[in-house]
Order: sequence, then structure tokens, then C-alpha cells
Amino acid sequence: MKKIEINTPITIFENIDELPADDLYLLTSAKEATYKSYAPYSNFNVGCAILLDNGEIISGANQENAAYPACICAERVALSAISCIHPNAIPIKMAIVAINQNKENTAPAAPCGECRQAIYEWEKRHNHPIEIFMRGETGEIYKVDSVAELLPLAFKKDDLI
Ligand code: THU
Repeated sequence: MKKIEINTPITIFENIDELPADDLYLLTSAKEATYKSYAPYSNFNVGCAILLDNGEIISGANQENAAYPACICAERVALSAISCIHPNAIPIKMAIVAINQNKENTAPAAPCGECRQAIYEWEKRHNHPIEIFMRGETGEIYKVDSVAELLPLAFKKDDLI
């Protein structure tokens, strides 16, 4: 028997002044995308902005439904939009911002498990890591170099062969 440990390297920026200008722009785009959120049930507005290899930024926001399982997270809205608008583009960086209408959210907006799996599919499909920046309404910004850091032992296409 043996035990292994899997670590998650996270870069933490104390505030937006520490971010390079292009990353700050992406994070700002994610915050602006929260205004496109439809979240009358959770009052939790999530925005996601994705930088593509062609320089374009595509954003999305969570869209809720009275039938709760029909809700879609911001990350998967943005990824689906890429498939339709820039089908051959490769996602390079993603920023996620979450605003809680009931209290100031200072917790970095980490993607849910289902979104981690979806983002992972994109990384594998294009064989390119996606840097992920996460922030609440205010507070520290967390960055991981790849969604693989957030999804150890990920389930993937090869597992089906
Ligand atoms: N949500 C996202 O948009 N992304 C995530 O990664 C976590 C959760 C949304 C879904 C739902 O509309 C609301 O946040 C509360 O769960």
C-alpha cells in the first residue's frame, strides 16, 4: 500500500493592481458579463470571459430556470458560445467573477465540478492548457495554470477506449 498526494499550485494576487494589464482586462470583462446573468433564484451572478488564440474575448453568464436542473453556469454558456461563434479558436485564458446580491462576496469564484469537467474537455480537445482567474466581487484573485490543477484524476475520452 502507498499514499500519494496531489498538490494544487495556485498563484494569488492580493488585488487587481498586481495583475498584468491584459489579464485585468479579461477579469473586467468577466465582471461586466455578470450583468448578463439571469439569476432570480440564487441571486448569485456569475460572469465568465474567455480569451481565444485569435485575440477575441467571448463571455457568458449563468442562466437560471424555475426547473433548477435546467440552469446553466456562466462557464458553460461562454464555452458553448465559442463553439458557435469561433468554432476553430482555442481558449487560452478564462476569468470568472461571482457576485452575491445578498452580501459582498470576497471568495474567488471557483468553477463547479461540472464546469471543471467541461473546461477539461476543451483543454484535451485542443491540447492546450487554459489559465483560470477567479475572483469574487472584491478580494484576492486566484489563478491556476490549467483546469487540470482543479480536477485531479480527471475522467477523459481515453477512459472510454
Ligand atoms: N454557477 C455558475 O455560473 N458557475 C459555477 O461554476 C458555479 C455556479 C451559477 C449556477 C447558478 O445559477 C448559481 O451560480 C448558483 O449556483
